[in-house]
Amino acid sequence: MMPEDMRRDLPITQQYIYLDNAATTPVPSPIIDAMIEYFEEYCANIERGAYSIAARASDICDAAREEVAKRLLHCDVEEFIFTRNQTQAANFVAYSLEHPFLNRWKTGFKFAPPLVKWTPESKIVSTLLEHHSNFMPWIRLAKHVGAQFQTITPTIEGRLTPEMFAEVIDEDTKFVAFQHASNAMGTKHDIAAIIRVIKSANPQCLVFIDGAQGAGHMPVDMKAYGCDFYSISGHKGPLGPPGTGGLYAREELIQRMAPAEVGGGTIASVTDNDYMLRSDHRARRWDAGTPNIIGLIGLGAAIKYLNKIGVQNVANQEHVLTKHLLDGIRDIPNLLIYGPKEDLTWKVGAICFNIQGWLSHDVSLALDSQWKILTRAGHHCCQPFMKFLDVLSTYQGNVRASFHYFNLIEEVDTLIQALKTLAA
Ligand code: ALA
Repeated sequence: MMPEDMRRDLPITQQYIYLDNAATTPVPSPIIDAMIEYFEEYCANIERGAYSIAARASDICDAAREEVAKRLLHCDVEEFIFTRNQTQAANFVAYSLEHPFLNRWKTGFKFAPPLVKWTPESKIVSTLLEHHSNFMPWIRLAKHVGAQFQTITPTIEGRLTPEMFAEVIDEDTKFVAFQHASNAMGTKHDIAAIIRVIKSANPQCLVFIDGAQGAGHMPVDMKAYGCDFYSISGHKGPLGPPGTGGLYAREELIQRMAPAEVGGGTIASVTDNDYMLRSDHRARRWDAGTPNIIGLIGLGAAIKYLNKIGVQNVANQEHVLTKHLLDGIRDIPNLLIYGPKEDLTWKVGAICFNIQGWLSHDVSLALDSQWKILTRAGHHCCQPFMKFLDVLSTYQGNVRASFHYFNLIEEVDTLIQALKTLAA
């Protein structure tokens, strides 16, 4: 499938130059068709009904979970928790690090040993580059469990290196959370090398990777990284509908993690004063109540679609577009570019910039009104990093153009011409 083929499935590309894929990606029509089919042909609840269309709905949702686990994340389906978004995935982990797992065992209804034994010396480490969804849950967790919260400062170009982690990880570091790729600087990180450094400094330390800008934009492989948790956004790189996301949690952990919510769908049995959570599909302990069936069907169809493109081809196309844009704007006077500009080894398809004398939102509005180019402006849900970059008071953040497979060189050329005009 070529980018032009994908554009035929995205009517929005006929009207706009859509360059806000780091926020959400338009959903291709075959994925919408798969969701409509559910409403029109087999609209039933899953895992509850004996009749034929209920069984069909359950089977298609089961297949969707397999598709995401095996073909997007390369993990076991029992290690994939379906969530509302990346934010919910992070909050689910935070909950399980704060609350021990409560269940009915042979010996009675009681708590399992906690995943982490917190002490006042315990440290939770994150980085200043994180978006709020991979930052606030850990600040709150640290307060709740009485641990210290420590941040790593990236380079001014938005790079995180193994050495930075080697300096801070010690035997008191119980949990580390950082990103695969930055939504605010368009950098990616060598997460396997960083995880090796963390685990060699402290093998007990749990590592959470925020994959909101990773999965779907580049090949990812849970087992190759050696992380404990990896969260995804379903509606960005993976091309699924909004309201979808997921969490990979290593098998040994998922058995002992407390779900944040309990209720129908999560149990093996309930008595008048206790319950036993299901152990047939442990990852479904997080599906309290009727899950987002339509979202799950859409996400499964999206991963099939993504695999027709080939996720490495997505990464390659984004690289070509990124290089073309940077080559075209690098020398524009009055244009400030954030993130790597020359060596693109650690660059992904998101480019951030400002024009001197303009607020970032005004640039974004001008790009839309004059050229129908859609970009995101502002702090990109990364206030600590935007403060570090010192772009909040002068520019109220920066402007971001972000790509997916369907974007074309011609669209980038229009953006280059537009920026030349605005910066003149
Ligand atoms: N965090 C998302 C973005 O960067 C919403 O736009």
